[in-house]
Amino acid sequence: MNKIAQIFETLEYGPAPEAAQPALDWLASHGNKFGHYIDGKWTAPGKTFASTNPANGKALADVTEGTREDVDKAVKAARAAFKTWSALSGYERGKYLYAIARAVQKHSRLFAVLETLDNGKPIRESRDVDIPLVARHFYHPAGWAQQLSRAFPGMVPYGVCGQIIPWNFPLLMLAWKIAPALAAGNTVILKPAEFTSLTALLFAEICDRAGLPKGVVNIITGEGPTGQAMVAHPGIDKIAFTGSTEVGKAIRAATAGSGKGLSLELGGKSPYLVFEDADLDSAIEGLVDAIWFNQGQVCCAGSRLLVQESIEEKFLAKLKKRMATLRVGDPLDKAVDIGALVAPVQVERVRDLVKKGVAEGGTLYEPDIDLPKGGCFLRPALISDISPANTVATEEIFGPVLVEMSFRTPEEGIALANNTRYGLAATLWSENINLALDIAPKIKAGVVWINGTNQFDAAVGFGGYKESGFGREGGKEGMAVYLKPAWEKALKSAAARTSSFDKLRMRSSTSASGSPHGEPVEPRGRGNPLDTAAIDQTAKMYIGGKQVRPDSGYSRPVFGAGGALIGEVGDGNRKDIRNAVEAARAALGWGTTAAHNRAQILFFLAENLDYRRKEFADRLRAETGATAAAANKEVDAAIERLFAFAGWADKYDGTVHNPPTRAIAAAMVEPIGVIGIVAPQELPLLGSIALLAPAVAMGNPVVLVPSAAHPLSITDLYQVIETSDVPAGVINIVTGDAEVLAKTLAEHDGIDAMWFCGSAEASALVEKASIGNLKQTWTSRGLSFDLADADKFNGAYFLAKSTQVKNIWIPYGA
Ligand code: NAI
Ligand code: MG
Repeated sequence: MNKIAQIFETLEYGPAPEAAQPALDWLASHGNKFGHYIDGKWTAPGKTFASTNPANGKALADVTEGTREDVDKAVKAARAAFKTWSALSGYERGKYLYAIARAVQKHSRLFAVLETLDNGKPIRESRDVDIPLVARHFYHPAGWAQQLSRAFPGMVPYGVCGQIIPWNFPLLMLAWKIAPALAAGNTVILKPAEFTSLTALLFAEICDRAGLPKGVVNIITGEGPTGQAMVAHPGIDKIAFTGSTEVGKAIRAATAGSGKGLSLELGGKSPYLVFEDADLDSAIEGLVDAIWFNQGQVCCAGSRLLVQESIEEKFLAKLKKRMATLRVGDPLDKAVDIGALVAPVQVERVRDLVKKGVAEGGTLYEPDIDLPKGGCFLRPALISDISPANTVATEEIFGPVLVEMSFRTPEEGIALANNTRYGLAATLWSENINLALDIAPKIKAGVVWINGTNQFDAAVGFGGYKESGFGREGGKEGMAVYLKPAWEKALKSAAARTSSFDKLRMRSSTSASGSPHGEPVEPRGRGNPLDTAAIDQTAKMYIGGKQVRPDSGYSRPVFGAGGALIGEVGDGNRKDIRNAVEAARAALGWGTTAAHNRAQILFFLAENLDYRRKEFADRLRAETGATAAAANKEVDAAIERLFAFAGWADKYDGTVHNPPTRAIAAAMVEPIGVIGIVAPQELPLLGSIALLAPAVAMGNPVVLVPSAAHPLSITDLYQVIETSDVPAGVINIVTGDAEVLAKTLAEHDGIDAMWFCGSAEASALVEKASIGNLKQTWTSRGLSFDLADADKFNGAYFLAKSTQVKNIWIPYGA
């Protein structure tokens, strides 16, 4: 008989199921019922809910709904454990991580089967992708733990971290969160997603077996309210979240003003660009991985196919043919490509979005393949004939649904790719290296894969631009989000502050008020304006390289140290901010200006300020009543700061990773975009320069609101800026009420990051106002940040906040 030959022809083969029994036995050994894992012990199960197998709807086990009391208990345990855990040597902590990695490998099949049962993903993926990456994500930070003091000098762990993860890669997301946090010396409370708690519970048992000290890792199961209780708990120092953008924004709002560290890894609508010269067969196989890996429930899924028009027809024909060969079925079957979605609610969500796509004019293609009966199965789907504004083109579908559009020129392709509020990942296919390397940097996303897709490695950072969140996971960047400078952790509220300049600033009106970050100082008396030569003109604003009058037509008086009127500045409003943001966005090309050229311009600025040092020192004395020595010192420090960041411009840059695949990952350090800066009230000149210099050095145009009490040092700077070749729009200055303008800036979608110096209350408002487009914020929260301190602020502190890392994966080597 020629049966084998026939099989070669039809490629039909029978089922090859992986046994479920070992995982079911493990669940049974816990009576199919779990409490939380807190302080190294299992709590008695409380009110429970079922964790089910989405492939057949059967309950696997009952897990406990975490209450506020449970969270509190876990925080206490984690706090107690932090003392000893953070005091261990990095080598000791690394050994625990190493032991966990080994144990994961030793029990890899049990983890894979349990993951597949609970989540519905094909065993081929949990076995070959998820679990090996989990082990790798423990090995990698184990090394960082040992090198901590050398690689991150002066940095200390946050303390207790609350970590909330989604259901699409349950154990992998746990590893991404727990491993770097522990390596850095934090202790953690982790909440798995309600649909997929089981591998996290198995992991707890592994920690136990590895002899991890009690309280270092605590696992609490539960739904949204349990997560909310973690976010609200005052004993948690940092929240790390992966999940929907909607919940990410809610967490940003809930943590505003709390001082908690925050990193967010959110949704995406990642473009998958295929150029006409691409290797189409490879691009098709890549696409299968991009959108049907894990049923499309992948934050960085290549869910938006953009094909060059000249090959569109041919490519779609090939794609449909390939889709028809995908096998949807029992996730435990080793020969299955597409398993079950995580839960019925997700199936409904995806179906609704597909319906909407069709209702809005899209054409739906689904191959005629059999689906298993029962269970959360969907066919792979393609929606074409859509326009960029359609719901399915903009919303994350999070299912096996690809949407397709075409483009004509590379420029159009880039514009379409970037036409999204997200910026997690992008894929591009072209055999032309010039084209590929031209496009990759122009795409606003944290990861770009060239001629490949969905590649991950623990040594390579992963995370988003724009509304895909902030912070990175993996690599050195992934460690940095679990560490902060020791001095920052020790900061007190500003009232207790002694600036290195205070001693010299005896007569300064602001330091005399005792509240350098507080409200503008009330003038003590109003001199006759006609007595002051300085107010023969009102200082204008500086927008788009031009001095402009305020839109309001109002001016604000500026009083000097003695209370005399020493000048007037424009009273900026919403319209002025809008104009300044527009000018700054028009200057975004500054970010791709060669670092050497940016440095030259900053050096020139420093040099030109140096020429006028006396004038600026006199101005400072008039504004604040500073002694000559203090005023000179501030001017000198401002010049030095400009030199420092001119010098940094071509040094704070990226690296090249060698992940264990046939590729390199070029970690490019890119500017964040337009940064809104509200300078402190004190240090009228240096306070602004300290923030402006790093932002501009790294390629970010800025909208600066100088000290409201003493704005004249900065309005004087226009002439220096104008004579220093700073391109129009790179530095924009709006004077006025700092807090009012801060709120307007924080709410503006054209601002990508927001830095604010001011009180704790105003900082909270700024953080809350920033959620619209998920700005990265830095606020001083009324703490005693001393921007005059060159040791702290001439270095990486603000450079890191001025930049984000994009990893470009490039096929390389044999
Ligand atoms: P979700 O964002 O609600 O859930 C993620 C995690 O956050 C879970 O552990 C959940 O219990 C927790 N959570 C929910 N509300 C919370 C709150 N207010 N405070 C603190 N924690 C909270 O995601 P969900 O509802 O499971 O999925 C809905 C959609 O979100 C998906 O269809 C998909 O579009 C998107 N999503 C995106 C993910 C990504 O990685 N990009 C991951 C999961 C979901
Ligand atoms: Mg489940």
